[in-house]
Amino acid sequence: MTIKVGVIPAAGRGERMLPLTRAMPKEMVIVDGKPFIQYVVEGMVAAGIKTIYIITGWRKHSVLDYFGSGENFGVDISYIVQDEMLGLADAIGRVRKFVDESFVVGLGDDIFWPVSCMKDIVDFHEEKKSSATLSIEEVSSSEVEKYGIVKIDKDYRVIDLVEKPPASKAPSRFAIAGIYVFTPEIFDAIQKTRPGKNNELQLTDSIKLLVDSGKPVYSKKLNGHRITIGSIDELRKANEFFVYMNSKKYPK
Ligand code: UTP
Repeated sequence: MTIKVGVIPAAGRGERMLPLTRAMPKEMVIVDGKPFIQYVVEGMVAAGIKTIYIITGWRKHSVLDYFGSGENFGVDISYIVQDEMLGLADAIGRVRKFVDESFVVGLGDDIFWPVSCMKDIVDFHEEKKSSATLSIEEVSSSEVEKYGIVKIDKDYRVIDLVEKPPASKAPSRFAIAGIYVFTPEIFDAIQKTRPGKNNELQLTDSIKLLVDSGKPVYSKKLNGHRITIGSIDELRKANEFFVYMNSKKYPK
């Protein structure tokens, strides 16, 4: 079945980007001429998504002001409010009332270049007919503690996953990047998830429940670059990335 629904969690407080996020959500910070979250929307549109649910919350009116119904962006956009930051799994669980088919999740603070990255993961999910598909990228051992890390077999099936492990306990150097595809099975797993790190409902714990119950969960290496803006330093790097790409596109 073709995937037509996208979910973008964008309700976080963005505390690592303070003081910028006092006045605006980090997802609306401009990178190379447009709000960061617009790249996520465009990735979804390029993957054939027709309906997007943006999870918003704290100080997020500007997201709605900017996208409205989504008409100008070629997609139908609705908004779901997450009042309290109870974690990524909680944010995604909020779409359950509206979604009874497979869907793709793109984090509001992670983008991918080229735009076709999202479609690659969606196509792979459909080919494998898995319960969940995670995009992954290899990171250095000093970085594993910033990410959810997977243990995979030779066919890239996920055998285990752990959220932000210290380097000594990481099962691999493959980090979950910000694109996921799920069947509605994830909703029951989220319901069974108990608060984990930071007392939040961690999405990696919900995915682990799927893995532990024998459901097929696969990973796919990103065919491109991930650009993230969790911190001011990462925002600077994101801008540098686009300056570099533009200078390659428009040689002087
Ligand atoms: P992050 O943990 O990177 O974002 O979540 P954050 O919570 O805004 O950042 P800090 O730690 O306070 O600096 C990844 C994505 O998931 C969303 C965030 O908005 C971000 O786009 N998110 C996270 C939610 O929508 N709800 C949550 O409860 C947690």
